[in-house]
Amino acid sequence: MSELSVPPMMYSLQLNEFGPPSNLKYVEVKSPQLCSPYQVIVKVIAAGVNPIEYKLRSGNFPIVNVLLKFPAVLGSDFSGVILAKGDKVTEFKIGDEVFGKTKNIFSGLGTYAQFVLVNVKSDAILKKPASITHQEAAGIGMASLTAWSGLISFGNLKIDEEAKKLHQKVLVIGASGGVGTFAVQIAKIINNAHVTAICSGKNAELVKNLGADRVIDYTKEDFGEVLKEERESIDLVFDCIGGDEYYDKSIPLLRIGGNFVTAVGPDTYGDNLGTINTMKAIAVTLGRKLFSVRNYKFIIGLSEKDLPKIVTYMEKRQIVTVIGHEFDLKDGVKAHEISESHRAYGKIILNCSN
Ligand SMILES: NC(=O)c1ccc[n+]([C@@H]2O[C@H](COP(=O)([O-])OP(=O)(O)OC[C@H]3O[C@@H](n4cnc5c(N)ncnc54)[C@H](OP(=O)(O)O)[C@@H]3O)[C@@H](O)[C@H]2O)c1
Repeated sequence: MSELSVPPMMYSLQLNEFGPPSNLKYVEVKSPQLCSPYQVIVKVIAAGVNPIEYKLRSGNFPIVNVLLKFPAVLGSDFSGVILAKGDKVTEFKIGDEVFGKTKNIFSGLGTYAQFVLVNVKSDAILKKPASITHQEAAGIGMASLTAWSGLISFGNLKIDEEAKKLHQKVLVIGASGGVGTFAVQIAKIINNAHVTAICSGKNAELVKNLGADRVIDYTKEDFGEVLKEERESIDLVFDCIGGDEYYDKSIPLLRIGGNFVTAVGPDTYGDNLGTINTMKAIAVTLGRKLFSVRNYKFIIGLSEKDLPKIVTYMEKRQIVTVIGHEFDLKDGVKAHEISESHRAYGKIILNCSN
């Protein structure tokens, strides 16, 4: 084991019981210690905030509540500097600037902290390209992997050379959020797709600048009506919002063999996750998978091995992290308030080393 000095104590945002954002407490706790030869300790410079974290925090998720151990530190996306490493870590050295995403969202040892333990075998950790800031890097993990999964792994869109000839048609629902802003860029840059994006008018310019060919303001227009000429021609609908309305209006737009891929499922925003609702969502998902006239896919589980591919585009800044909101770690309550308001644009980032 080798290390720079890791202070014995650190600040973290700690959750001691499920509830509102104010349950996140900025407290001093013991810094983590290496307990496997494959671990590194990362000084977290910035952490990304993802909606799954407010959903876990709220406790409205009884089926998985038991998995979270209190006191819990939430967060899985990070960017920072390696301060210590186990004996079997050969791919990184002390002082390396790294970023990534820890895998176990229930560990309670998350990235809303000044230091975090990362396992180089099971978590996603990469050297941070110099062209990307720590704040940008902290926003990449979960959101970009979800967008990649939605479009490429589940959505079956073609990439790079193969994509050039096809010019496939994609509809991104919720294009201004953390996942949506990556999805619009990936669809345009990697899939060479014709991208229609759904977001509110206030975010239309942003989404257009990311590459959307057409933007529909869901607060003013009915996208089913606007796109009725497109019936049966869209290759992929990527849904970052969930609910029945988007599903019902999208299906007639998809071509035969086209895919409706959702990151959220049948419940709008995936907020209402009580046991009965979860059962209902499972039943509806199965029904849509079995009986829908088009392919219905719900993203469950992200493949961290896709991260290096995404980073090749980000390193060249062909794809960028849109940072909509930045807070200091001690103001994490505000970060959760904006996240669960569903009005965030781009990524929400916590600065952890101030
Ligand atoms: N399945 C998975 O593995 C997986 C992984 C990651 C994320 N997710 C889920 O995917 C969802 C999206 O994540 P995210 O990080 O992108 O969330 P986010 O950043 O919180 O999304 C916020 C955006 O949603 C837009 N929005 C809200 N209501 C809308 C509506 N009715 N129609 C269109 N846009 C609307 C908002 O735009 P306006 O303010 O303009 O309305 C805002 O910009 C979350 O529910 C998350 O939990 C799932």
